[in-house]
Amino acid sequence: SGSSRHGVPALGFEAVAKNLNDKVTVPAGYEVSILHALGDPLSSTDAAWADNGSESAESYNRRVGDGHDGMHYFGLSDSGAFDAKRSDKGLLCVNHEYVVGPNALHPNGRTAGSARVASEVEKEIYAHGVSISEIRRGSTGTALSVTKGSSFNRRITSATPMAFSGPAKGNAILRTKFSPDGTTTRGTNNNCGNGYTPWGTYLTCEENFTNVISRAAGDNDLRSAKEIVALNRYGMTQGRKSPYLWDTAGSDDLFVRWSASVTGASAAEDYRNVFNTFGWIVEIDPFAPTSTPLKHTALGRFAHEGCWPCTAVAGKPVVFYMGDDNRNDYIYKFVSKALWDAADVGKGHTAGIKYMSEGTLYVAKFNADGSGTWVELTHGKNGLTAGNATYAFADQADVVTHARLAGDVVGATKMDRPEWGAVNPINGEVYMTLTNNSNRVSPSATPTGSQLKPDTANPRYYEDIKGTSTSQKGNPNGHIIRWREAGNEPAATTFTWDIYLFGAEAGAAANVNLSGLTAVNDFSSPDGLWFDQNGMLWIQTDDGAYTDVTNCMMLAAIPGKVGDGSAVTAAGGTPTIKGANATDATVRRFLVGPKECEITGVAMTPDRKTLFINVQHPGEDGSIASPKSAWPASQTDASSTKRPRSATVVITRSNGGEIAV
Ligand code: FEO
Ligand code: CA
Ligand code: CA
Ligand code: CA
Repeated sequence: SGSSRHGVPALGFEAVAKNLNDKVTVPAGYEVSILHALGDPLSSTDAAWADNGSESAESYNRRVGDGHDGMHYFGLSDSGAFDAKRSDKGLLCVNHEYVVGPNALHPNGRTAGSARVASEVEKEIYAHGVSISEIRRGSTGTALSVTKGSSFNRRITSATPMAFSGPAKGNAILRTKFSPDGTTTRGTNNNCGNGYTPWGTYLTCEENFTNVISRAAGDNDLRSAKEIVALNRYGMTQGRKSPYLWDTAGSDDLFVRWSASVTGASAAEDYRNVFNTFGWIVEIDPFAPTSTPLKHTALGRFAHEGCWPCTAVAGKPVVFYMGDDNRNDYIYKFVSKALWDAADVGKGHTAGIKYMSEGTLYVAKFNADGSGTWVELTHGKNGLTAGNATYAFADQADVVTHARLAGDVVGATKMDRPEWGAVNPINGEVYMTLTNNSNRVSPSATPTGSQLKPDTANPRYYEDIKGTSTSQKGNPNGHIIRWREAGNEPAATTFTWDIYLFGAEAGAAANVNLSGLTAVNDFSSPDGLWFDQNGMLWIQTDDGAYTDVTNCMMLAAIPGKVGDGSAVTAAGGTPTIKGANATDATVRRFLVGPKECEITGVAMTPDRKTLFINVQHPGEDGSIASPKSAWPASQTDASSTKRPRSATVVITRSNGGEIAV
């Protein structure tokens, strides 16, 4: 084994076996520690997590939130600035996607009832969002830990004031009682995957924001036909009650604002438009702890999984890739109008406004011959006009706010739930996970509702892979697509693509296990995805069709390039173009998580000696009375009865060396 920082790396660790243990399993010679878990204080004054849900709602403005997800490490200089080379001191930004079902947050779990308890809702609002913590390497060993009380430590929650940038800023679409001029809002929600910018800021991405907003029955009577089309396309049908029911906790504005219903005489008097204030890419400057996060509307509004930059090149646009994690939704990219200038590193939101408020949004079309097109979503082009029969696009604010409808109009390719993307630092090729899609149906079927037949980019359809469960239908194991932009220019409008890897169980038939996975690398439902600085690809999994056999996992891979493979045909599906088969040398399992978790979020220090991953929702199907996991306490005490909590894991090598080489 071994690697070269400037060449193609090689996998240098022993594969971890699939397992159902209640701990994080790593290869021999590696060590695991917990950086922070739900409820841990970031201040030096709040009490430690009590393991009984007794922490106050207010204290979550200074405690680690729930549902750890995407994250990024920023090196921190001694003068408090961004230092891309610094590995011993940094700021770790972590998404807190949602409040996990078993609800370790409250003393006895969530109190049942059609109206929520105000103090519980308040705590949930503050437990969502993002945490920023200063972390430092100790004087011995290589693991980093949180510097409690650091002035950089910060919580951003579902109540934090934020500002809009870009074409929808100030548009009537964003007007609310909180911001009658539509320029500001409060809170970020359901922050799933993430991104970062070349100038050193964090991007947090609003995914399942539909989950926190309700809409009154009969509200359609008070809406225009056009508004109803838009609300329905984003899943906000009238009479829909959010699973959280935050809007039921009382008459305080903190609660009322979660109902997207017409109650006042104008949009400036109620929260009919609150739904439009979520679903954006949000930029946070971790080096400016009092800065106001920016929602960049130019990058479109949908169930954002993440936002991944190309490698910035002087004098060229900055390009970000994005996926809409929804069955049959789209892959997008944003190309900045401003051209990259490395002097903007460290300029925070000033650079954010420069590169992310003006530019061109595109949506992807994958053609059957392995070519592809980026279709421009600009008002007045490609049918995106006020006269369009599907939806009357008034202006660019309307196009970006309703990017899904724009994608529908231009005939973008409907994908099997785009999750994370990653850009290969060696050759610029872009990878994206397509986690699964239960709505793919047989090519001989007559699709109903949102069902779709397989196509070459989403080629799989199975009646029931294991013959045991309806959850095994369609494309239950997912795949990873990749593309190379024409001329290797990230701003190009055409590309070539293939399918890098198909998820499957090792024992499945050859026309199911299309990538030839074996015991050392079989997986299902790829979700998190990240290239490290050496060009090693990290693949993480979320639930899916394999959790009867193994907990979710992370694999490391050496991926090759677009065009490595040849045509294959999935059982029941359609022919497609795929990369070379996986071997032990090219894809290998690095880690298996604790019970009923998802492995998501990955970052590394620049020296590649510290790896961070997040464990989300351990024991998610349990309850306070009947827990299904005791992780993270079970990591070191298998008999622990403590509450399961989402947490960030620090992985180092016992010999202090680089990870995975
Ligand atoms: Fe929050 Fe698409 O995963
Ligand atoms: Ca995800
Ligand atoms: Ca997922
Ligand atoms: Ca999950």
